Amino acid sequence: MTEILSVREARQAESIGKTVLLRGWVRTRRDSKAGFSFIELNDGSCFGNIQILAPNSLANYDSVVLQLTSGCSVAVTGLVKESPGQGQATEVEAAAVELLGTADAETYPLQKKRHSFEFLRTIAHLRPRTNTFGAVARVRNQVCYSIHRFFQEEGFLYVHTPVITASDCEGAGEMFRVTTLDIDHPPRTPVPPAQPVLLAGVPAVPPAQQPVPPAQQQDGKIDDTKDFFERRAYLTVSGLLEGETYACGLGRIYTFGPTFRAENSNTARHLAEFWMVEPEAAFFELPDNMDLAERFLKRIFRDVMEHCPEDMQFFNSQIDKTILETLTGICDSSFERLPYTEAIDILLKSGEKFDYPVQWGMDLQSEHERYLVERHFNKPVILFDYPRTIKPFYMKVNDDEKTVRAMDVLVPKVGEIIGGSQREERLDVLLTRMKEQDLNADDYWWYVDLRRYGTVPHAGFGLGLERAVQFVTGMANIRDVIPFPRTPGSCEF
Ligand code: 4AD
Ligand code: MG
Repeated sequence: MTEILSVREARQAESIGKTVLLRGWVRTRRDSKAGFSFIELNDGSCFGNIQILAPNSLANYDSVVLQLTSGCSVAVTGLVKESPGQGQATEVEAAAVELLGTADAETYPLQKKRHSFEFLRTIAHLRPRTNTFGAVARVRNQVCYSIHRFFQEEGFLYVHTPVITASDCEGAGEMFRVTTLDIDHPPRTPVPPAQPVLLAGVPAVPPAQQPVPPAQQQDGKIDDTKDFFERRAYLTVSGLLEGETYACGLGRIYTFGPTFRAENSNTARHLAEFWMVEPEAAFFELPDNMDLAERFLKRIFRDVMEHCPEDMQFFNSQIDKTILETLTGICDSSFERLPYTEAIDILLKSGEKFDYPVQWGMDLQSEHERYLVERHFNKPVILFDYPRTIKPFYMKVNDDEKTVRAMDVLVPKVGEIIGGSQREERLDVLLTRMKEQDLNADDYWWYVDLRRYGTVPHAGFGLGLERAVQFVTGMANIRDVIPFPRTPGSCEF
């Protein structure tokens, strides 16, 4: 009986002796003088290929086997045998090779063994067929699986927060507008017409009935009340505010979904569309939040090493030779926890010449973060108690009135991987903070209500999924750890 197996299954010694059907894409073909061809077949189920031995006794040997080129899709039926070759337990002796789809060798872009990542970004639809992007996809999948398992096991409930929102959570104004208005001819609020001139004997038309001349309409602001939601709407930058409403009712929740930022940062760590995991827990204070973040990251790192060993070996040998050692070291030690003020002292005393001079109150640049993590502590650092002026309105103000209960988790190379805080649960302080940041509390009435009715201490954080995948794989550019990266000027696929 023929069993349909994945390449991953067929590569295991337990499959020896089975007659199997394998389907996948040809990586390479090599013909031996001894009367057969070797086909390296990959189906994405694992990093490695399986070697197919196709004897020239096959009826279609000349017409099909000898025509196979990189990228062709095939179905192979055959017997799994022990392989005499190194680095593979099994191989398959083909009884039939069926060509499913050709890939013209003249035009198929993945001919060479190695292409630059820049080039592969221009063929994002074909890069899943390469070693590196297959490995990234499997590790990304494992990270997502670990995220859900970790939070479910810790008693967090998965909650879906909206993608379309009216509020700017981070207050950074980096939001994409969502509109169905005709942007070439948007409706405008009428400009109040000038007072009608009263002509003797002729009754003036009341202003409301006077048609507004087109020229005057053009002077008005865009009329958002004519838009789909009858107000301004955006793509969310974070599910935090809505997440808090569920935490303040269900206790422990997490959101996990796409978030959008229209920041014009053309860096190797920024995307305009990325995925964020945001746990939020009632009755949590900042130290609980730090403990959770540390447990969470270690769990992801351990799982990836345990469940994706072949892919991680590849990253360790081809992408970043220190990655396995780094991840193991992190899992076996504890994160450094350091108040922002002490970090500033360390930076000032470092004797380093930074591009951005260090002073208390500044937002740390990646050069500062990297100095702390890679040179000074040489391990992940949780920085906390940042100046209130550089952090969003929702973070809890400390007794010193100068700092807020913010925390950022910094890791080598990637820098900030997690951002979070304890939330301001005091109504009066929250309102002061909103005013301070020029936010209209009426726009956030439902958020403010959480402090009005049964307020509780609570805290949470956000992990950027792509930053996490970037860190565990050692991939240098965040555009190479998401299938279809969205960055300024780039939305091809
Ligand atoms: O530090 P951020 O902006 O925090 C928040 O959005 C909070 N509301 C989270 C919370 O407390 N629930 O973003 C969180 C994380 C960052 O640490 C980073 O890993 C990632 O999201 N991130 C990005 N990743 C890729 N591209 C970008 N443009 C990113 N901006 C933030
Ligand atoms: Mg942040």
